[in-house]
Amino acid sequence: MQKKLDKIAKDTNLFLKKFVQRQKKSELIIPMKYGLFSRGKKIRSKILVDIGSIFKINYKSLIIIGSAVECIHSYSLIHDDLPCMDNDSIRRGKPSTHIKFGESTAVLAGNSLLTMAFEILSHKSLNLSEKIKINLINKISESSGHLGIAGGQYLDLSFEHKKISKKRIVDMEIKKTGKLFSFCCVAPLIIKKRSKQEINKFENLGADIGLLFQVADDLIDNKGSLSAAGKKTGKDKIKGKATLISLLGHKNTIKYANKLILKINTKIKEYGSSTKNLSETLEYILNRKKWKKNTNI
Ligand code: IPE
Ligand code: IPE
Ligand code: MG
Ligand code: MG
Ligand code: MG
Repeated sequence: MQKKLDKIAKDTNLFLKKFVQRQKKSELIIPMKYGLFSRGKKIRSKILVDIGSIFKINYKSLIIIGSAVECIHSYSLIHDDLPCMDNDSIRRGKPSTHIKFGESTAVLAGNSLLTMAFEILSHKSLNLSEKIKINLINKISESSGHLGIAGGQYLDLSFEHKKISKKRIVDMEIKKTGKLFSFCCVAPLIIKKRSKQEINKFENLGADIGLLFQVADDLIDNKGSLSAAGKKTGKDKIKGKATLISLLGHKNTIKYANKLILKINTKIKEYGSSTKNLSETLEYILNRKKWKKNTNI
């Protein structure tokens, strides 16, 4: 699993490096690269490649689409760490972008990474019809805006220090994290022009996978260490974040996550042995072991 993830990370970084190199230089490119090329796991790209292989999409296209996703993901992390949001000073084992370059530069570098995703998806190096590209851009935009990342982040912040129901916490986590995973799950079906019904099914599957990922991240924050996570931990409690852990406790949240994996695996059963890689990724997400104190990765 780690080898496959490393290869995807390497290929994605290579595409992004070349893409950036071909553009004209600007002052913002240094903070953008700082936020983008910093040991991110590329788990969203892995999900995209896993689902893409079920639908026999060529690897190169998946890497390009994954690169766009990683730009949006990195932008969301730069903004997530800002003082007006989670106020975090360490990200991926180094100072957060605003600590290194200042707040206004971090905001603008984040904005530029967000829009770079659309440049990538509309670029000629992605060898797909214009109609398909428009459909991909439409979906990724929806995943990033008020119905996705931005909307979810809004809820995350407005729920701080409040007692929030399980249903609303799940809705918030699906928006802030799940929707981008949904995009990764439906992009291959958009390319293959599958039915609305099937796209809907994969959209929900992605929401569940993203929820699982966010729950695992919350578990890491609750019990993991900075050295293993590459970011400060124990912060959700201090900030009064509404998480499933705050509602159900650590142990019951692990149970919740295990049930979620079962649910996801049942959903993908009908696609047979081609889902082996995806199941492996799901196990990896929950068993990153980073919520066990002092575990090194
Ligand atoms: C962290 O995402 C933020 C969440 C949505 C939970 P990742 O854990 O995927 O971050 P990187 O890219 O590997 O640093
Ligand atoms: C971030 O969630 C979700 C995003 C959409 C960026 P967190 O705030 O839990 O992510 P970390 O723990 O700072 O990486
Ligand atoms: Mg946050
Ligand atoms: Mg945060
Ligand atoms: Mg977190």
